[in-house]
Amino acid sequence: MVDDRVNNERRRFLTVVTSGIGAVGGIFAATPFVLSMAPSERAKAAGAPVEIDISKLKPGQMVKEIWRGKPVWVVSRTPEMLESLKAIEAELQDPMSASSVQPTNAQNEFRSEKPEILVLIGICTHLGCSPVQKFAIGPASGISDDWPGGFFCPCHGSKFDLAGRVYRNVPAPDNMEVPPYTFLNDTLILVGEEGSA
Ligand code: FES
Repeated sequence: MVDDRVNNERRRFLTVVTSGIGAVGGIFAATPFVLSMAPSERAKAAGAPVEIDISKLKPGQMVKEIWRGKPVWVVSRTPEMLESLKAIEAELQDPMSASSVQPTNAQNEFRSEKPEILVLIGICTHLGCSPVQKFAIGPASGISDDWPGGFFCPCHGSKFDLAGRVYRNVPAPDNMEVPPYTFLNDTLILVGEEGSA
Protein backbone atom coordinates (compact mmCIF):
# COMPACT_ATOMS: atom_id res chain seq x y z
CA MET A 1 0.00 0.00 0.00
CA VAL A 2 2.78 2.31 0.98
CA ASP A 3 4.55 1.52 -2.30
CA ASP A 4 1.38 2.30 -4.26
CA ARG A 5 1.00 5.69 -2.52
CA VAL A 6 4.65 6.56 -3.17
CA ASN A 7 4.32 5.59 -6.83
CA ASN A 8 1.15 7.68 -7.21
CA GLU A 9 2.81 10.74 -5.69
CA ARG A 10 5.88 10.33 -7.95
CA ARG A 11 3.63 10.05 -10.98
CA ARG A 12 1.78 13.26 -10.04
CA PHE A 13 5.08 15.05 -9.41
CA LEU A 14 6.46 13.99 -12.79
CA THR A 15 3.26 15.01 -14.53
CA VAL A 16 3.42 18.50 -13.00
CA VAL A 17 7.13 18.89 -13.89
CA THR A 18 6.79 17.73 -17.51
CA SER A 19 3.70 19.87 -18.19
CA GLY A 20 5.57 22.88 -16.76
CA ILE A 21 8.50 22.22 -19.09
CA GLY A 22 6.04 21.92 -21.95
CA ALA A 23 4.51 25.30 -21.11
CA VAL A 24 7.92 27.02 -20.92
CA GLY A 25 8.94 25.40 -24.20
CA GLY A 26 5.72 26.67 -25.72
CA ILE A 27 6.58 30.24 -24.69
CA PHE A 28 10.06 30.00 -26.24
CA ALA A 29 8.65 28.41 -29.38
CA ALA A 30 6.04 31.18 -29.69
CA THR A 31 8.45 34.10 -29.17
CA PRO A 32 10.17 34.05 -32.60
CA PHE A 33 6.78 33.81 -34.26
CA VAL A 34 5.43 36.86 -32.40
CA LEU A 35 8.56 38.87 -33.25
CA SER A 36 8.26 37.94 -36.89
CA MET A 37 4.73 39.32 -36.86
CA ALA A 38 5.98 42.92 -36.37
CA PRO A 39 8.76 43.60 -38.89
CA SER A 40 7.48 46.78 -40.49
CA GLU A 41 9.12 49.33 -38.16
CA ARG A 42 12.42 47.46 -38.28
CA ALA A 43 12.21 47.15 -42.05
CA LYS A 44 11.46 50.85 -42.29
CA ALA A 45 14.49 51.74 -40.16
CA ALA A 46 16.62 49.43 -42.28
CA GLY A 47 15.68 51.29 -45.43
CA ALA A 48 12.40 49.96 -46.73
CA PRO A 49 10.70 52.40 -49.16
CA VAL A 50 8.22 54.84 -47.63
CA GLU A 51 5.05 56.22 -49.18
CA ILE A 52 4.35 59.95 -49.04
CA ASP A 53 0.79 61.13 -49.55
CA ILE A 54 0.74 64.53 -51.28
CA SER A 55 -3.01 64.73 -51.83
CA LYS A 56 -3.29 67.65 -49.37
CA LEU A 57 -0.11 69.42 -50.51
CA LYS A 58 -0.93 72.82 -51.97
CA PRO A 59 1.27 74.85 -54.36
CA GLY A 60 4.02 76.57 -52.40
CA GLN A 61 3.86 74.07 -49.50
CA MET A 62 6.20 71.35 -48.28
CA VAL A 63 5.68 68.02 -46.48
CA LYS A 64 8.33 66.04 -44.62
CA GLU A 65 8.91 62.32 -44.11
CA ILE A 66 11.75 60.16 -42.84
CA TRP A 67 13.43 57.56 -45.03
CA ARG A 68 16.47 55.61 -43.84
CA GLY A 69 16.67 57.99 -40.89
CA LYS A 70 17.01 60.98 -43.21
CA PRO A 71 14.55 63.86 -43.70
CA VAL A 72 12.80 63.74 -47.07
CA TRP A 73 11.08 66.88 -48.29
CA VAL A 74 8.41 67.11 -50.95
CA VAL A 75 7.70 70.62 -52.26
CA SER A 76 4.85 71.60 -54.55
CA ARG A 77 6.45 74.33 -56.68
CA THR A 78 4.36 77.12 -58.15
CA PRO A 79 4.95 78.38 -61.72
CA GLU A 80 6.76 81.39 -60.19
CA MET A 81 9.03 79.10 -58.21
CA LEU A 82 9.87 77.14 -61.35
CA GLU A 83 10.64 80.34 -63.26
CA SER A 84 13.10 81.42 -60.57
CA LEU A 85 15.20 78.30 -61.18
CA LYS A 86 16.26 79.51 -64.61
CA ALA A 87 16.84 83.10 -63.52
CA ILE A 88 19.48 82.34 -60.88
CA GLU A 89 21.63 79.77 -62.69
CA ALA A 90 24.60 82.14 -62.90
CA GLU A 91 24.70 82.31 -59.10
CA LEU A 92 24.94 78.54 -58.61
CA GLN A 93 27.97 76.30 -58.23
CA ASP A 94 26.60 73.41 -60.28
CA PRO A 95 23.44 74.55 -62.10
CA MET A 96 23.29 71.42 -64.27
CA SER A 97 23.76 69.16 -61.23
CA ALA A 98 26.61 67.42 -63.04
CA SER A 99 28.39 66.41 -59.84
CA SER A 100 25.42 65.93 -57.54
CA VAL A 101 23.35 62.89 -56.63
CA GLN A 102 19.95 62.37 -58.23
CA PRO A 103 18.14 59.39 -59.78
CA THR A 104 17.68 59.06 -63.54
CA ASN A 105 14.13 60.42 -63.45
CA ALA A 106 15.44 63.65 -61.86
CA GLN A 107 18.30 64.30 -64.26
CA ASN A 108 16.86 67.41 -65.83
CA GLU A 109 16.70 71.15 -65.24
CA PHE A 110 14.05 70.78 -62.53
CA ARG A 111 15.78 67.86 -60.76
CA SER A 112 12.41 66.10 -60.60
CA GLU A 113 10.20 63.67 -62.50
CA LYS A 114 7.33 66.18 -62.53
CA PRO A 115 8.52 69.80 -62.68
CA GLU A 116 6.07 71.01 -60.03
CA ILE A 117 6.96 68.33 -57.46
CA LEU A 118 10.42 68.42 -55.89
CA VAL A 119 11.63 65.49 -53.77
CA LEU A 120 14.79 66.17 -51.80
CA ILE A 121 16.92 64.81 -48.96
CA GLY A 122 16.86 67.68 -46.47
CA ILE A 123 20.51 67.52 -45.45
CA CYS A 124 23.13 70.20 -46.09
CA THR A 125 26.11 68.86 -48.06
CA HIS A 126 28.56 70.81 -45.89
CA LEU A 127 28.46 69.12 -42.47
CA GLY A 128 25.01 67.58 -42.46
CA CYS A 129 22.76 70.14 -40.75
CA SER A 130 19.18 70.34 -41.92
CA PRO A 131 18.50 73.59 -43.83
CA VAL A 132 15.30 75.53 -43.22
CA GLN A 133 12.77 76.44 -45.86
CA LYS A 134 12.86 80.07 -46.94
CA PHE A 135 10.05 80.30 -49.47
CA ALA A 136 9.29 83.98 -48.88
CA ILE A 137 10.89 86.15 -51.56
CA GLY A 138 12.77 89.43 -51.24
CA PRO A 139 13.25 91.28 -47.91
CA ALA A 140 10.55 89.20 -46.20
CA SER A 141 12.92 86.24 -46.38
CA GLY A 142 15.45 87.90 -44.08
CA ILE A 143 18.21 86.73 -46.42
CA SER A 144 18.51 89.37 -49.13
CA ASP A 145 16.36 91.85 -51.03
CA ASP A 146 16.56 89.76 -54.19
CA TRP A 147 16.14 86.33 -52.58
CA PRO A 148 13.94 84.24 -54.94
CA GLY A 149 13.03 81.55 -52.39
CA GLY A 150 14.89 78.41 -51.46
CA PHE A 151 16.58 76.84 -48.44
CA PHE A 152 19.02 78.26 -45.92
CA CYS A 153 21.36 76.28 -43.68
CA PRO A 154 21.61 78.04 -40.30
CA CYS A 155 24.80 76.23 -39.28
CA HIS A 156 27.25 78.04 -41.58
CA GLY A 157 25.07 79.97 -44.00
CA SER A 158 24.88 77.80 -47.10
CA LYS A 159 22.07 78.69 -49.49
CA PHE A 160 20.18 76.42 -51.87
CA ASP A 161 17.59 77.18 -54.51
CA LEU A 162 14.17 75.59 -54.95
CA ALA A 163 15.75 72.57 -56.65
CA GLY A 164 18.26 72.03 -53.84
CA ARG A 165 21.12 73.50 -55.94
CA VAL A 166 23.80 75.23 -53.93
CA TYR A 167 24.82 78.84 -54.44
CA ARG A 168 28.41 79.93 -55.09
CA ASN A 169 30.68 81.16 -52.27
CA VAL A 170 29.07 79.18 -49.45
CA PRO A 171 30.58 76.31 -47.42
CA ALA A 172 28.42 73.53 -48.91
CA PRO A 173 30.26 71.90 -51.84
CA ASP A 174 27.38 70.17 -53.63
CA ASN A 175 23.72 70.35 -54.43
CA MET A 176 21.44 68.57 -51.98
CA GLU A 177 20.69 64.97 -52.84
CA VAL A 178 17.53 63.79 -54.61
CA PRO A 179 16.55 60.30 -53.35
CA PRO A 180 15.31 57.53 -55.63
CA TYR A 181 11.52 57.80 -55.92
CA THR A 182 8.61 56.99 -58.15
CA PHE A 183 4.97 58.05 -58.42
CA LEU A 184 2.54 55.25 -57.50
CA ASN A 185 -0.26 57.53 -58.69
CA ASP A 186 -0.88 61.31 -58.91
CA THR A 187 -0.92 61.80 -55.14
CA LEU A 188 1.28 59.01 -53.80
CA ILE A 189 5.07 58.95 -53.98
CA LEU A 190 7.21 55.95 -53.09
CA VAL A 191 10.62 57.04 -51.82
CA GLY A 192 13.34 54.39 -51.97
CA GLU A 193 12.60 52.98 -55.40
CA GLU A 194 13.58 54.69 -58.60
CA GLY A 195 10.96 55.40 -61.24
CA SER A 196 11.38 55.62 -64.98
CA ALA A 197 12.84 58.71 -66.62
S1 FES B 1 26.27 72.31 -42.33
FE1 FES B 1 25.17 73.60 -43.65
S2 FES B 1 26.48 75.23 -44.00
FE2 FES B 1 27.61 73.97 -42.69
